[in-house]
Amino acid sequence: MAEHVRVLLSEKEVDDRIQAIGEQISRDYAGKQVHLICVLKGGSFFLCELAKRITVPVSLDFMSVSSYGSETKSSGVVKIIKDLDDPIKGKDVLVVEDIVDSGRTLSYLMEMLKDRGPASLKLCTLLDKPDRRVIDVNVDYTGFEIPDEFVVGYGLDYDQRYRNLPYIGVISFD
Ligand code: IMP
Ligand code: MG
Repeated sequence: MAEHVRVLLSEKEVDDRIQAIGEQISRDYAGKQVHLICVLKGGSFFLCELAKRITVPVSLDFMSVSSYGSETKSSGVVKIIKDLDDPIKGKDVLVVEDIVDSGRTLSYLMEMLKDRGPASLKLCTLLDKPDRRVIDVNVDYTGFEIPDEFVVGYGLDYDQRYRNLPYIGVISFD
């Protein structure tokens, strides 16, 4: 089966939007330190580009969760593969994700992090597929709302490939 990737959001469009979000975050967190939590692996490309554009002090931590399912659908069962290195109590935490799809992964994750007592807890996602939402998730910063299509690039994978594409593409098969 041949795989094809069609550009949905160009490298320039994505970079410009990340610049704008970085500026917004820098304004919103003025006088504070923002603690960015990257959800591996998908959020890593976005996190790096976003962090470079934030002008307030930044600290980082990483966690890895898996939602079991096929390559293109999440099942709603979330498992922590790698937890954070440091406590988040009293910190201004901003979770950085690649995409909010059904919302299952993020709703679980945000509840879990809230229980750890951060000073504040917000969510930033590069992509949002609102049509696919099953569980309500409060998103504070969104890069782009996209239609219900399976996308790759900028950290997003199909079967662990295509994460390194510098743009967002829609994958199709024939
Ligand atoms: P949710 O729990 O359904 O919101 O799914 C979250 C996870 O599913 C994301 O962090 C991605 O890893 C994966 N995912 C959802 N949609 C896509 C897509 O279009 N391309 C690649 N991965 C996706
Ligand atoms: Mg993911």
